[in-house]
Amino acid sequence: STFFRGRHFITTQDFTNEEIELMLDLARDLKIKFSHGEPTPYLLYKTLFLIFFDESTRTRNSMQAGIAQLGGTGIFLTPDKMQIAHGEVAKDTGIILSRFGDGIGIRYCKFGEGNKYLNEIAKHSKAPVMNLQDDVYHPFQVMADLMTIQERFGKNLRGLKVGISWAYAESHLKPLSVPQSQILLFTRFGMDVTLAYPEGFDLMPDIVEQAKKNAEMYGGKLEISHKMEDAFVDADIVIPKNWGGFFVSDNPDEIRAEQAKHKNWICTEELMKLTKKHSIYMHALPADRGKEVVDSVIDGPHSVVYDEAENRLHTAKAVMTLLMGGRF
Ligand code: CP
Repeated sequence: STFFRGRHFITTQDFTNEEIELMLDLARDLKIKFSHGEPTPYLLYKTLFLIFFDESTRTRNSMQAGIAQLGGTGIFLTPDKMQIAHGEVAKDTGIILSRFGDGIGIRYCKFGEGNKYLNEIAKHSKAPVMNLQDDVYHPFQVMADLMTIQERFGKNLRGLKVGISWAYAESHLKPLSVPQSQILLFTRFGMDVTLAYPEGFDLMPDIVEQAKKNAEMYGGKLEISHKMEDAFVDADIVIPKNWGGFFVSDNPDEIRAEQAKHKNWICTEELMKLTKKHSIYMHALPADRGKEVVDSVIDGPHSVVYDEAENRLHTAKAVMTLLMGGRF
């Protein structure tokens, strides 16, 4: 498409609802073709650079498998094996990689740094820069989430209740980017979002403000509560997930200690009973089983986590095709 070609994908906020729908239509088409084994050589001979500052299972492999299935090549890079390790600046990395290939994907979740780095690369890259998760946004995740929700509830999502709740996890501090991307996008599709978290675990104020504006503009809702149950009562969709308490403290030990006070924030069968009968349980994965959610919920009849993860492939292919394909 001449319209998408070359655009950066750092946040879904930069794309209209119609453009998001078009990406999802293509993702659905690619999913059908993939299931039939039909070739989709839309990015033949194109090269995508993938720089991962952080670990990944779904994102890395959906991008690398995706570009291969579209006929192109994905080159996996880590900063420790690049001159980034010796201080090469984002501008130089962005210019060079964009002269060598057709797209740059970056995961960099470090709080206060990731999004700035991506924007700096994007400023200098003539090839599209794709955000594979930074400290503010995770646009590919929320595209797969929206696709999964539409598969279950149809295209008109107006009035569906989505409960996004904080959950306890002990493993490591998770970024805010998943719930932030979700409140931004879901409110634009007319959904009623309830965001529940223990006091002190606020999301970034500008993002919450923007999500409220999105809700006003598109007829959705955003309500905030400090009771986990409020996210579950009569919900059509529940998304309980840990995020870091960057606003509690910048000391990881203090954050862990604060988190530990909220071990009761776990998604249980009792909480699921508060939701609508047909409700779905979602999680971007990896989930901290036994901490964020009990096995009987994540492995139970409401769970769509594997469809959600699978849709990462199809949405990744759709976004790559539109941004990296077509003609000037
Ligand atoms: N959901 C997600 O981004 O998974 P990975 O961290 O495995 O990429």
